[in-house]
Amino acid sequence: MTSSGRFEPGGPLRGTLRPPPDKSISHRAALLGAMGEGETSVSGVLSSEDTDATLRAVSALGAEVDSERRADGALELRIGGIGLRGPATRHEPGATGIDVGNAGTLLRVLPGWLAGQGGGTWVLDGDESIRRRPVDRVAEPLTAMGATVECREGRLPPLRVEGAELRGIEYRLPVASAQVKSCVLLAGLLADGETSVIEPAPTRDHTERMLAAAGIEVGSEDTTVAVRTPARRRITVHPADRIEPHPIDVPGDFSSAAFFVVAAVLVPESRIRVEGVGLNPTRIGLLGVLHRMGAGVEVEEAAASGGEPRGEIMARHGPLRGTRVGGAEVPLAIDELPLVALLGCFADGETVVEGAEELRHKESDRIAAVVAGLRGLGAEIEERADGFAVQGTGELRGGRLDARGDHRMAMLGAVAGLASRTGVEAAGIEAAAVSYPRFESDLDSLLAA
Ligand code: S3P
Repeated sequence: MTSSGRFEPGGPLRGTLRPPPDKSISHRAALLGAMGEGETSVSGVLSSEDTDATLRAVSALGAEVDSERRADGALELRIGGIGLRGPATRHEPGATGIDVGNAGTLLRVLPGWLAGQGGGTWVLDGDESIRRRPVDRVAEPLTAMGATVECREGRLPPLRVEGAELRGIEYRLPVASAQVKSCVLLAGLLADGETSVIEPAPTRDHTERMLAAAGIEVGSEDTTVAVRTPARRRITVHPADRIEPHPIDVPGDFSSAAFFVVAAVLVPESRIRVEGVGLNPTRIGLLGVLHRMGAGVEVEEAAASGGEPRGEIMARHGPLRGTRVGGAEVPLAIDELPLVALLGCFADGETVVEGAEELRHKESDRIAAVVAGLRGLGAEIEERADGFAVQGTGELRGGRLDARGDHRMAMLGAVAGLASRTGVEAAGIEAAAVSYPRFESDLDSLLAA
């Protein structure tokens, strides 16, 4: 059983989980709904601190957001869009402030839309943790397209975006980031000529799928300039007149479900089923990692709906062996890599995550946080510049994990507690509300089932 912040060894986990709606898709649904001309209905939007910030932002820009809360806590939304060029016609004199809270996706994607609004100026700012997250990665391409974009110390929020007539560019992403890709693609809809983004390895493609569903032609091809694995992917858009409103049905969030999938794998005698979860191949890298580790995890795909694959995951406890995660697998499992470290503690042999320096720029420096957090619980884990190496000991002692300010570290602490010998105090567990407000009650119901 759990009490807030303290997670005792326990279990087994049994029963069925319906994870909360996907956070990435919920942000995009609100943004694309606001960009549309007419009304977009969205079924099952995540209600969390992060996505609420996006709903407030699009309302502040002039979109009409009408929401109804379902019994499961998700929102049924109707968004009256203001059209692709709506912000340009509605802006007020001077710079308008937008509070993004803790939402990195809002901070990095919204500027793409605003950059194409000639005559308007917006300043995006948020909480203490967001102020440490780099935004030069969006300032650079948007500036190349013709907008005037400034950030603190050339790198950090607040981010000031002065809209302009944009020109299309070909942009090679220096790091694989779906947020930056999405930002440039949205700006490309408002630019003159063709805009393409070349990613060093495929990243989550929700924006491309949703734009295509909204009647926008989105080109996607693997570039085969050299023998290279994976091939770089080029995504192309052209100037658009309008975004067609279309109904959106948000699948369950794989990244939220992942905490319980891993808990079921680690806690003896556990066996759970996860229903209605998104299975987009650019999101489920963790399943490949679990498979290599020998975990008892099976997937059943249902018919895709709204362009996003979804289905069920069955997970049960069993022994694990160590593995290596790196290269193209990193962006496909980026938010789940802290869980790989935890799995590694219980595996036979060594588990290594490499090529993941991006983790240093999440809600916290997740390489440092995972290493300090798990080491404090008794793990044999070593920090590397681009990841970590864990020596599996088959167990974890327990103790205190300080996760204040990072929702995924807080939930990692909770899962670690269930699988530990003496329990874990996850300081800052309330941060789970950033992406998974019902985390603790979902955990309680799986423990009671
Ligand atoms: C996200 C992309 C990823 C991910 C984040 C959500 C998105 O970030 O870590 O949680 O919704 O596009 P990067 O684009 O910075 O890799």
